[in-house]
Amino acid sequence: MNYPNVFLHGGDYNPDQWLDYPEVLLEDIRLMKLAGINAVSLGIFAWARLEPEEGRYDFEWMDEIVERLTENGIGIVLATPSAARPAWLAQRYPEVLRCNERFERMHYGERHNHCLTSPVYREKVRQIDTALARRYAGHKDILMWHIGNEFGGDCRCPLCAEAFREWLRNKYGTLEELNRRWWTGFWSQRYTDWSQIEPPSPMGEVSNPSMWLDWRRFETCQCASFVRMEREAVQAVNADIPVTINLMERFRDYDYFTLAKEIDVVSWDSYPTWGSGDDMALAANVAMQHDLMRSFKRKPFLLMESTPSLVNWKPHNKLKRPGMHLLSSLQAVAHGSQSVMMFQWRKGRGGSEAFHGAVVSHDGRSDTRVFRDVAEVGQVLAGLQPVLDARNQAGVCILFDYENLWALERVQAAQLGNMRYIDTVLLFYRSLWEQGIAVDFADMSEETSLEGYKVVIAPMLFMFRGGIEEKMRRFTEKGGVLVTTFFSGIVDADHLTYLGDAPHGLTDVLGLRAEEIDALYPEEFNTLAFEDGRNLPLEELCELPRDVTAEVMGVYGSDFYAGMPALTRNRFGRGTAWYLAGKPDPYGMKIVMDIILAEVKLPKADAEIDHQEGIVATARGEYIFLQNYSGEAQKVNLGRPMFDLIGQRRIEDGWMLPANGIMILKEER
Ligand code: GAL
Ligand code: ZN
Repeated sequence: MNYPNVFLHGGDYNPDQWLDYPEVLLEDIRLMKLAGINAVSLGIFAWARLEPEEGRYDFEWMDEIVERLTENGIGIVLATPSAARPAWLAQRYPEVLRCNERFERMHYGERHNHCLTSPVYREKVRQIDTALARRYAGHKDILMWHIGNEFGGDCRCPLCAEAFREWLRNKYGTLEELNRRWWTGFWSQRYTDWSQIEPPSPMGEVSNPSMWLDWRRFETCQCASFVRMEREAVQAVNADIPVTINLMERFRDYDYFTLAKEIDVVSWDSYPTWGSGDDMALAANVAMQHDLMRSFKRKPFLLMESTPSLVNWKPHNKLKRPGMHLLSSLQAVAHGSQSVMMFQWRKGRGGSEAFHGAVVSHDGRSDTRVFRDVAEVGQVLAGLQPVLDARNQAGVCILFDYENLWALERVQAAQLGNMRYIDTVLLFYRSLWEQGIAVDFADMSEETSLEGYKVVIAPMLFMFRGGIEEKMRRFTEKGGVLVTTFFSGIVDADHLTYLGDAPHGLTDVLGLRAEEIDALYPEEFNTLAFEDGRNLPLEELCELPRDVTAEVMGVYGSDFYAGMPALTRNRFGRGTAWYLAGKPDPYGMKIVMDIILAEVKLPKADAEIDHQEGIVATARGEYIFLQNYSGEAQKVNLGRPMFDLIGQRRIEDGWMLPANGIMILKEER
């Protein structure tokens, strides 16, 4: 496989905007070399230029670009152009246009908004992908295929509605079975003919959570089969070129664990708003996304897009502060990225993204702050070759599951809305990340194994599926430390509640049963009170456990449930099962995790390094990435002399790390 054997540094290259400016295209190459660019993602939205009219392909301009790039040692991540279709295609075949939530057919325009079911769309994409592959897949500098762009969203056209019904028919066999598992005895929802079922919509049925779950699974399935179709088209020509799709942060539309099976390499697009007040909180969230991306395939991933300076689609678009481009780029590398890619290489003169950050601005200069920042990343990456083969190793696994996310999205229970599932996962994640403890993620699918981890954390697993309760039981029995929370083990994979005590199948493992859950108003809080007098605020949700045989480690501080257990520990088999009934804030969560982890030996990236809050250490193999998100210069004491790969120097012990500073440290032997 042509999988990169260096860190890739580059970004989206859209020369199809510049075909009337040959001098600009020539200048691009000179500037790319100056910026240390060794790879570009080419042609992501180039369909209209590649196939100006139906069936007539024009590859000559791309030939020239490909030639020029490869002559200059710049590798190519070649895109299929399926993420935006040409106007002629939409005009001629309106079925390729998506129907929205209200079943209205959209008009031509924008991107990422075609119907993934439409046989015409699939065929047209297959044809252009095949033509592209025939033209370029023999080229040694095509590193990878970039299929489409940021797949997302739903279509509710008649074709999709019919495909949904077909999918349901395959799944359930009979309407009787569907009625049973969708609990349609409620509100007279019984279906007596398949044709009565429509996609969920505010125009029709929107509150049946079982239906919603199936709709999300179906949409995942449509996207997966679309990606597979594209993958097969390009790999039919050359099976050795790996395929990626670029994923997104906090995405909810499709199950990424499932989509990842369709591709060879995971990549993603990261656009945090650095510098807007709390970079530490932001860095925790980004770190979690990186680890999640690495976990989808348990393999290194690519940072496919990031901005070298600002974006142009938030209400306030802040510039990256000095140092932040290097820091955020290397944060990705710390968590397992094999690349730092950006959107985009050069700002266009027009269109909606003319003012989005890019390596080269409208002035065409190479002596700008942004250009220098980018060139610096290029230089640093070139010196990190030994890190490329280093792998992230984790002793903790956090269960994060898209089906559970969807289940929580639509449940009408203690809190309406999504019940802040991802934020709860982040709360746990952050308490570990801040201490330099590495984390993997896994979902609840059948193939998930908890073997090899010392700690498994299962925040807010409202749904149990794939036999996860059995896996958690065995994991604990065999000596693991299991951490569960409020609102766990309540519904099955159909979104039907279990009959019996919650958390389903784990009450003996935990030594309690969860009976009721209370919601707090945003300004309200309870507390988690410890015997030694410490008191931590609890927010949002408080669950009330009964028949507690587990050891009580902390109790509620107020309300009618004051004195009831809020944190418990149960010895089970050779292991320990913890249960946290309420939701602490980030500070409190750190204390809770300290208590939980006191008995476990987990490697910490910063075990010997003495530093203040706002500094975080992340280990990738033997390399320790020491990152400063505090916004101020900070003194760090390494505890022993180490070698810094960025500065290429030996560091004796005490060192000032500037604001947004980063070091990549290696033990000196
Ligand atoms: C991404 C997208 C790019 C560009 C970028 C701007 O989501 O894939 O094409 O629009 O955002 O931030
Ligand atoms: Zn459709």
